[in-house]
Amino acid sequence: MKISRIVLASVLMVPGVVLAGENARDHFRDEARAATGELASELMQALQAAMQEGGPPEAIAVCRDRAPAIKTRLSLERGWRVSRVGTRVRNPLLGMPDAWERRGLAEFQARHADGEAYADMEKVEQVVEDGQRFNRYLRPIPLQGQCLACHGDRDQMSADIRGILDDRYPHDQAHGYQAGELRGAFTIKAPVD
Ligand code: HEC
Repeated sequence: MKISRIVLASVLMVPGVVLAGENARDHFRDEARAATGELASELMQALQAAMQEGGPPEAIAVCRDRAPAIKTRLSLERGWRVSRVGTRVRNPLLGMPDAWERRGLAEFQARHADGEAYADMEKVEQVVEDGQRFNRYLRPIPLQGQCLACHGDRDQMSADIRGILDDRYPHDQAHGYQAGELRGAFTIKAPVD
């Protein structure tokens, strides 16, 4: 009787432990989806408004100033690093993927080549880096038609856009994209206590 109670207790406890881990993971994934969704929609709204008001030169300021500002605000609000990276990068100081992000971007491209839509993809993983545990989240940013003005072929860009980009981004690699291609990813890195 005693033994069977112990057995029963351990049978009941094990799923409990697993569930706690899964719950924490689901919670992180849901929060990460919300934070990257917020970043995506705020950026898109600001970009569209700037394109309408001042055209691409105005919109460059959104990408240069607003994007880092929104990322910083979301990072401070949540205590995470909330950011975006590129498959090819315009601003190497802010947009360069690390090794985990590079692997994730390559996985997204491989899944896309196998027929999966970028909109359906995300990557969630717990990793240990330098002895610290982190939850990491990555979600694809596909290139849309309205991005081509600044990320399409250089000879299709307006002269003023090209001029500003040459001036501000001497190491720019983030051009020559086609609509539907993977432009980069929203990324989150959150320390686990
Ligand atoms: C008006 C020009 C313009 C438009 C339109 C534009 N971008 Fe950008 N984009 C930039 C600039 C400038 C940067 C560099 C920002 C910085 O200094 O960090 C950038 C950076 C990025 C980055 C960060 C990685 C990197 O290369 O530095 C991503 C991702 C990105 N853009 C995606 C997009 C997507 C997706 C769209 C369309 C929805 C878009 N952009 C539309 C100008 C533009």
